[in-house]
Amino acid sequence: EKQGFKHYMLKEIYEQPGVFRAGLARYISEANHVQLGLPAGFIDSIERVEILACGTSWHASLIGKYLLEQVAGIPTTVQYASEYRYSPPPSLNNTLVIGVTQSGETADTLAALELAKSRGDRCLGITNRTESSIARVADAIIDTQAGIEIGVAATKTFIAQLLIFYLLALDFAARGKLTEVQIQEFIEGLRQLPAYMERILEGQERYIEDLSRLFTHTKDFIFLGRGINFPIALEGALKLKEISYIHAEGYPAGEMKHGPIALLDEDVPVVAIATPGAVYEKVLSNSQEAKARDAKLIGVAPIDDLAAHEVFDHILPIPIVDEIFSPVLTVIPLQLLSYHVAAHRGLDVDQPRNLAKSVTVE
Ligand code: M6R
Repeated sequence: EKQGFKHYMLKEIYEQPGVFRAGLARYISEANHVQLGLPAGFIDSIERVEILACGTSWHASLIGKYLLEQVAGIPTTVQYASEYRYSPPPSLNNTLVIGVTQSGETADTLAALELAKSRGDRCLGITNRTESSIARVADAIIDTQAGIEIGVAATKTFIAQLLIFYLLALDFAARGKLTEVQIQEFIEGLRQLPAYMERILEGQERYIEDLSRLFTHTKDFIFLGRGINFPIALEGALKLKEISYIHAEGYPAGEMKHGPIALLDEDVPVVAIATPGAVYEKVLSNSQEAKARDAKLIGVAPIDDLAAHEVFDHILPIPIVDEIFSPVLTVIPLQLLSYHVAAHRGLDVDQPRNLAKSVTVE
């Protein structure tokens, strides 16, 4: 069942390029158009989006917000479902509310979406289980079709959720924000990602396995990212704490000087996501500030960039792609890092303590 992998989580990490390819094959037509299978006119009058989710699905949603706003120009908010359900924002017309839940059974997400529906909002569900409870609540469902995920720590379903957000943003952008040529270029960019994902998996696992040994006894980790990779910093920290039980915090790199920098010393490693783009130099200089506090620095960064080599003690190399696509790649070394740290600690990676695959209670 685990096909030679020691844990389901590792197997599922390796399934990600295939999941991404299968998603592209299903949702992009032969004529190279996005076809998410939504009812006719479903997004036509939509002016804003509210996304509700928990945990890793919430992180995917933050990237979804970035895409919907920056690619499609659609104002978007992301709320924890557990917060929204007791303090929903004032209702506005022409809002699409999206519930994102891998299991389709998360109690808070279901209750939040039901509330949105009762207020008259159009509701979309993004799930890996189309037969689950969310199908009863939402007006339409998009299947992330990652295949059953057994590891409690979400990996391939996260990647599959990201793909749906790329495609949904394109669907909105096709209403006029992007030209047909730009859309085709964007789709081409998506098509290149699975091969890059494979390259990261093949090229880095051994290295990350070795590197992880350094952190078997580490008590605290900080993850930094900015822009579209800020949610990846959050996701890297969540993965690590879920399965290795190491305290980890994700921060937008620019916030560090407003408090968290006080935590840093030689015992607190910092993982920074530094991908070429609008905030690259900024992340490098934020990392430099951490280094000045003796923190050990790990960079998810391009391998042959001199500036990155000067700052980071260790580099988890990622191929250079347009910044907008980078989260699909940057998350992979962080999944591997958390996996190997937990495995070195001899922990039950697939069934971490206190956690369940579906959180069906409030
Ligand atoms: O099934 P859902 O996507 O609604 O689950 C939400 C969270 O419970 C889930 O993402 C949790 O944070 C995972 N264990 C993350 O690895």
